[in-house]
Amino acid sequence: MNKVDIEKYFKPNLKDARMRKNDAQYKKFVLSKEYKMLGEGKKYRIQTYGCQGNEADSEIAAGILEEIGFVKAESENDADLILLNTCAIRENAENRIWGELGRLKSYKKTNPNLILGVSGCMPQEEKVVNRLLKRYPYVDLVFGTHNIHKIPEYIKRLKYEEQRVIEVYSYEGAIVENLPKTREHKHKAWIHIMYGCDEFCTYCIVPYTRGKERSRHKEEIIAEVKDLVKKGFKEVTLLGQNVNAYGKDLNLDYTFGNLLMDLDKTGIERIRFTTSHPRDIDDVTIEAFKNSKHVMPHLHLPLQSGSNKVLKRMNRGYTKEVYLDAIKKLKEARNDISLTTDIIVAFPTEKEEDFLETLDIINEVGFEGAYTFIFSPREGTPAYNFENSITEEVAKDRLRRLNEVVNKGYLEGSKKFEGKTVKVLVDGFSKKKEGILAGYSEHNKLVNFEGGEELIGQIVNVKITKAMTWFLIGKHVK
Ligand code: SAH
Ligand code: SF4
Ligand code: F3S
Repeated sequence: MNKVDIEKYFKPNLKDARMRKNDAQYKKFVLSKEYKMLGEGKKYRIQTYGCQGNEADSEIAAGILEEIGFVKAESENDADLILLNTCAIRENAENRIWGELGRLKSYKKTNPNLILGVSGCMPQEEKVVNRLLKRYPYVDLVFGTHNIHKIPEYIKRLKYEEQRVIEVYSYEGAIVENLPKTREHKHKAWIHIMYGCDEFCTYCIVPYTRGKERSRHKEEIIAEVKDLVKKGFKEVTLLGQNVNAYGKDLNLDYTFGNLLMDLDKTGIERIRFTTSHPRDIDDVTIEAFKNSKHVMPHLHLPLQSGSNKVLKRMNRGYTKEVYLDAIKKLKEARNDISLTTDIIVAFPTEKEEDFLETLDIINEVGFEGAYTFIFSPREGTPAYNFENSITEEVAKDRLRRLNEVVNKGYLEGSKKFEGKTVKVLVDGFSKKKEGILAGYSEHNKLVNFEGGEELIGQIVNVKITKAMTWFLIGKHVK
């Protein structure tokens, strides 16, 4: 394909994405009649990668596709549309997608009418779109994080125009309400409370792929939760890249902590949220762990590093002292709170002594779990250009030592519950063991126990008989 062809598509640009426009636009999703039958007789399949934000977006994409007549495909073989909702957070996340696209190519041969689509964070990078254009001519549909609501239009264009549809915006779109959602579970739901991120941690691509921070109006969120309660849902997880910044862009005297307290009164049994930022977590939010009835006693609070020098270079906006102070307040508010975190090792210029400070703080806080990563340079972010002399061998060794400490924390966190009775929201049967139910406790521990199908979607008492590192085994009790 020559350059002129490439230029005709609507492509993103990371530099533009860095610019912040002023006000978010709000609008309602209305499906125009012309799109209603587009997917009739057709089946879709969505593969989701990355964070819960992407999981929630996939539920929206599924909801929209079903509104225009598609039904869910049982397998890849009988799908007329396969959409990969992608993640760009680390290089290995992207490599997985490229590999997957290679694998899916064969389905285009057996079914020439198959629509193969790529959405989510990866297409927000211009280099990704260029590569898709040049080397993946069999990918028909590409859109980003700002225009999921335009899926009906894209499907129509694919049907009537003899060319691929590639449309990715650098600037954030409107906040679209009234979006249809086909939720994966019938008893627990993801809820976007805000979109985007303005933090610009120096390693992170998200502020570029998701745009500026935009909060949904609290009335919409509260109405959505009330509606879920009516439908029998038991749990909501409020989503945002930094939920503690909720409402700041609306300039109201109403923060995330206020939202938690309002949602506490909706009748929903369980409220969870992710992700929190240590700099922005405020006293009202911390108090919500004490004063609310339904905010669950688990907090995921990414630390990233225990060294102030490294935190500064990451532009995290807090020191380890500030972090530890928040932890102290949280434990005072709710002494049984389970804490988990994210850590990056081998950030450029991280010295052995910096890394040891990270290990120290992990032991000090007593995290009951952590997602651990080796720094991955992302083109377009400041840290991509930081001088980095840490060898792969050193990085891997740090990750291994870190995981040893983290796994000890997991097991200790599990052991606390041996002999205790916990409340479990039952998700369904365990994928690994037949006849065994799986669900999560209030402290967000995975619990396995024997029981029947009728318990799925219920909150039940389970007495823990054995604690494993990654899960608890128990017995259903009345
Ligand atoms: N908004 C959330 C989640 C961001 S992505 C937050 O601020 O915590 C999830 C995690 O991926 C981050 O917490 C960080 O630990 C990790 N991460 C992000 N960019 C990375 C990169 N370039 N290399 C390695 N890990 C990264
Ligand atoms: Fe990335 Fe930092 Fe925003 Fe989290 S807070 S999404 S790590 S820039
Ligand atoms: Fe990945 Fe985008 Fe989420 S980069 S972690 S899917 S915000």
